[in-house]
Amino acid sequence: MPYVPPHLRAQPGHEGRDTQAPSKSLADLASGPLKHTHKKPPPNRPPPGPGEYRRNRHSDSSGGKQRASAPKAFGTLSGRRCLAPSEDIEGGTRVDAEGMVYDLDGTAVYFCDRFRRYRFDSGAGGLSLLRALCSRLRTMLELNGAMFDPDEEAAKKQKEHGYELYEEKPTLRSNSKRVGADGESHTVGTWSNEEYGLVGFQWMYLRFKSYQRFSETWALLERCALAGLFNDFLSAAAASAKTGGDRLTLRFVSLGGGPGFELLAVEFFMRYWAEVGENGTDEEKAAWLCASSFEGDRAADAPYALELVSLDLQPSWATYVKSLGAQYDFAQWDVHGSGAAPILGERGVDPNVTTVCMLSNILCYCSDEQTAELFSGLLSVEGGVSAIVVNERGAEQPIVPRLQKRGVHVRKLLDQASAGRDDRQMIFLPATSAPAGEGSVSLEAPIFPNQPYEERKSMNKTTDGFENLRLKSEDDGWQVVGSK
Ligand SMILES: C[S@@+](CC[C@H](N)C(=O)[O-])C[C@H]1O[C@@H](n2cnc3c(N)ncnc32)[C@H](O)[C@@H]1O
Repeated sequence: MPYVPPHLRAQPGHEGRDTQAPSKSLADLASGPLKHTHKKPPPNRPPPGPGEYRRNRHSDSSGGKQRASAPKAFGTLSGRRCLAPSEDIEGGTRVDAEGMVYDLDGTAVYFCDRFRRYRFDSGAGGLSLLRALCSRLRTMLELNGAMFDPDEEAAKKQKEHGYELYEEKPTLRSNSKRVGADGESHTVGTWSNEEYGLVGFQWMYLRFKSYQRFSETWALLERCALAGLFNDFLSAAAASAKTGGDRLTLRFVSLGGGPGFELLAVEFFMRYWAEVGENGTDEEKAAWLCASSFEGDRAADAPYALELVSLDLQPSWATYVKSLGAQYDFAQWDVHGSGAAPILGERGVDPNVTTVCMLSNILCYCSDEQTAELFSGLLSVEGGVSAIVVNERGAEQPIVPRLQKRGVHVRKLLDQASAGRDDRQMIFLPATSAPAGEGSVSLEAPIFPNQPYEERKSMNKTTDGFENLRLKSEDDGWQVVGSK
């Protein structure tokens, strides 16, 4: 059946409409429909049956009660209408072609959703980082552009197909299974391996996941650093450099790392933290960030080597990851059966290398007992991994009790008190290590405030009048529609 963009299908009176009707131009697809109707189930789709996936609802594996998604529970209260593709923030100058990032009098306004509905603000330092992200993203998009079919019509179809997959997530809805490297059958998560490999899908993913992954990971790293995660390594690296000892290596391995935006955040953050982040004043930090273009490979200047590795089932991410710089590497890897060896790389366990794993939006593909066994094995003495840092979307991650049962120390970095359990940012530490403190880590002057969304948490229901607002629930947030 010919593709019809979801926003056209969902328009009133569209039911039964001729699917040959002219579709929107690719320029519109590029930034999304004017009307935010994409979340409504398209006509002819039956509601999910018992046991089928329900969008934006989570239940733990023990059959616990369902709970609103993290954006609903913790944020997106100030829902806004989406911006039209050609519309701009008043007084703002676009940093990227699509208006995902703006320079507003030397500070940043940016969006992480493709309809540019939920605005995030950041200071001058954040703007400098987002400029650097946009610069690397431009290269990735050039590489992506070169992979499309040379025939214009065929390329347009590839983009339309990518848009549809990104938007509709048909694989998630079908609850499909795939056979892993271990020979077992596993649930396929949001998108299938084949879908991740499509140039049109990658065109969507690169353009719209980049900002969210980058800014959320930066905030995660700030929390990890304040929790002391990098202290031992950085002191040892500095001491070794001072005494002419071996140059130490920090190896970050993103499991299911895809195109590597979380690794890009690590590259920028580790430079920042070592040079100014830990001890600088807010002004010094902003000045340092503004003066840093993050261009070029500064690896040789650092007192330690940084290795940034994406391990992923979909091999075609390699091109994008490697475009990020000489410190980056990629290998095809299946969490279900490829084992631990590629995580440590050829050197294996090496006293000069500190390995940290990252999980960025991958747990929907792997939260079973076997994965918990893999992760707890990595964190054992023989496993050689110092910590696993996590950035996820769901508030309740079923892997947490599975790891705790195996003795892994789980440190939850986000506030757990004001709005209940929140597993979105965590550190998993070896059972044998002294836990790096306890409790959440609040950022006093974050570079990217409200990452991930926590704005609803801070609303005191009685004193801030939250209960006096009339809210319309939407799939990815709340719309304030008036007061009671
Ligand atoms: C939602 S994306 C996250 C990518 C990246 N970490 C990020 O945050 O943007 C999920 C990634 O997991 C990968 N993936 C899915 N199943 C996997 C598996 N069995 N083993 C390794 N990677 C897998 C996909 O190819 C995809 O790149």
